Amino acid sequence: MPSKLALFGGTPVIDRQLKPYRTIGDEERAAVDQVMKTGELSGFVGAWCDAFNGGPQVRAFEAAWQEKFGVRHAVSVNSNTSGLFAAMGAIGLGPGDEVIVPPYSMSATVMAPLVYGGIPVFVDIEPDTFCLDIDLVRQAITSRTRAILVVNLFGHPAELHALRELADERGIALIEDNAQAPLATENGKLTGTIGHIGIFSLNYHKHFHTGEGGVCTTDDDDLAQRLRLIRNHGENVVEPLAIEDATNLIGFNYRLTELSAAVGIEQLKKADSLVSGREAVSLRLSDGVRGLPGLTPPSIRDRCRHVFYHWGARYDESVSGVSRETVARALEAEGVPVWQGYVAPLYMLPAFQRRLAIGRDGFPFNLTNRRYDRVLCPIAERCYERELLEFAVCVFDMSDAETNAVIDAFHKVFENLSDLSNLAGEKAS
Ligand SMILES: Cc1ncc(COP(=O)(O)O)c(C=O)c1O
Repeated sequence: MPSKLALFGGTPVIDRQLKPYRTIGDEERAAVDQVMKTGELSGFVGAWCDAFNGGPQVRAFEAAWQEKFGVRHAVSVNSNTSGLFAAMGAIGLGPGDEVIVPPYSMSATVMAPLVYGGIPVFVDIEPDTFCLDIDLVRQAITSRTRAILVVNLFGHPAELHALRELADERGIALIEDNAQAPLATENGKLTGTIGHIGIFSLNYHKHFHTGEGGVCTTDDDDLAQRLRLIRNHGENVVEPLAIEDATNLIGFNYRLTELSAAVGIEQLKKADSLVSGREAVSLRLSDGVRGLPGLTPPSIRDRCRHVFYHWGARYDESVSGVSRETVARALEAEGVPVWQGYVAPLYMLPAFQRRLAIGRDGFPFNLTNRRYDRVLCPIAERCYERELLEFAVCVFDMSDAETNAVIDAFHKVFENLSDLSNLAGEKAS
């Protein structure tokens, strides 16, 4: 392997773009064609009747999902975001209720409570799994806490069984944002099925997808009914069903189309092999780079399956003597696209910094003294600013040869750290 770094004019290890990840094949095309022939692209009607819970594809997709994930109810929705909103509505969240959330996730997680006037309470993450730290969660629970909204980030399970026990003990809900972790497990149980409600994403970047879409899972009949009502204009059907508690049953259309459901049925059949493929690439990458100075491949807690939506390594520049930014630039020059830091801790978003969400008077922040200052979650800030280095397994379709080339590129860069440490702006190692 040529040793001169591509950043300094050497030959890159990978000289072409990595293939994009594509999961749609003949089966999905045929399924969509069948639906097109019927002309019935959605089977929902937003009033109480047989079609209230969707058409044949939606029902078949939900039945297949229930079977695959071993749950009593799978309620399809048109995105994970809608699923999060529906879950907050279903648990009866109201103005001023607190919901514990992690600062490291996609923004939809922490916006969901705001939709019902709830107050997101940020709790820091564990430095190795990047998921909520349960000890800090315990300390953050108050008499106003209504739910813990946990994220199985990058495909790794949070401490779900312990969190469920804690939630049950305190009489609050555990909601899993499982957008990134379908088929991950903790103690042999699938993530998304351990909390009171689990929410999956079927957007285009996920392990398997329907373009846009999502699924809420629950074993609780009452929550399932409330999710179905919220999905489809529950305000119209409160009377016929004689629902005692009509809280939050207003106004939304979160329905999945028949076309998307038909794609979902086919994608679900491939789910195991799609997820195992990404897992295998990631484990190979972890093994291949283990021991490089300052780089710690993703941790996997005991009795957990990590399904690797992202491969998130920890990087310590005090060991390597070179900043994360320079290492990332060098890797990119070798043909390895890497990301740094995932997202800024979500309390840095304008809604929190300006305390402005709904209307002009600062609702619901005007119901709380909680502040969203920097340093709220030091571990997440450290991961964002310095430590997390990611390879987005979700973006590429990687053969063994390509994975080996990525590993070679990491070795090349880390074997030439002394050249990088001489770059302007680097501290001497
Ligand atoms: C953790 C997490 N939550 C929520 C979402 C939102 O999902 P969707 O695009 O299906 O609404 C995503 C999407 O990437 C996500 O990764």
